[in-house]
Amino acid sequence: MKKYLVIGNPIEHSLSPNLHNHWLQENNIEGIYDKKKLNQNEIKDIISKVRNNEIAGINVTVPFKKDVIPFLDKLSEESSITQSVNTIYLENDNVIGHNTDIFGFEHSLKIAKFNIKNKKALILGAGGVVPSIIYSLEKGGALKISISNRTKSKADELKKLFVNLNVIEWGTLTDFDIIINATSVGLNDGDSIDIDFSEIKKGNFFYDVIYNPKVTNFLKIGKKSGAQVLNGKIMFVYQAFEAFKLWHKISPVVNEKIFRLLD
Ligand code: ATR
Repeated sequence: MKKYLVIGNPIEHSLSPNLHNHWLQENNIEGIYDKKKLNQNEIKDIISKVRNNEIAGINVTVPFKKDVIPFLDKLSEESSITQSVNTIYLENDNVIGHNTDIFGFEHSLKIAKFNIKNKKALILGAGGVVPSIIYSLEKGGALKISISNRTKSKADELKKLFVNLNVIEWGTLTDFDIIINATSVGLNDGDSIDIDFSEIKKGNFFYDVIYNPKVTNFLKIGKKSGAQVLNGKIMFVYQAFEAFKLWHKISPVVNEKIFRLLD
């Protein structure tokens, strides 16, 4: 029986096992996907279990997407540029780190029929998933990418990876076509981002990486202003889809049933 894991801290909330175990069964693969809460000093040991085939694959979530890198043998180009890994596996005796958040984000924009080319983006937050979002936006040909984070130094850090990034003060806004909430504000129902959105133009796109609750206050503000809105569910499903494909060389089926597994 092959063993797969998602590691993070906290990890209780993770719905990755729901998706992967469903797809494992559906494809008659003998395997089990579990979640494991980890401390920083346990990362090395868990990755060594991939090297000796005790674990067939690992997904990585907050706050370890960067911390796993020193223990890997090879990185995909995307993981290397974003310094962010969410999928680990063994290939030709090398432990490989891959980043499927990028595919997840890109694919969600595609499904929403939003073309980022020559558009202005504003990202709120500078946490684990943000390098992947910036990479996708740059790759898609965004005209300008601005970022605002409560702790400005973390946004400045990202400018070292992405030199064209425009860092703005927390609490201020710039003109945008798409605004992405990548902060954790909204995870608790009723939480509101401390920014005044009253002056924004009509017809833009509000994207929240959070998918539970389905409609955060941030998305409510977007809806009220007449914006197209999207939560993080599609991104989440497609980062898992891409990880499943890497591990099993099979494209799993994504349908309504899959989305209901996350409700
Ligand atoms: P990590 O930073 O460990 O990767 P994350 O959940 O990916 O964790 O990121 C949390 C993000 O939400 C951060 O950008 C954080 O801002 P700080 O860097 O200032 O901590 C942001 N965040 C969390 N609570 C917030 C709040 N009350 N107001 C504004 N931003 C908040």
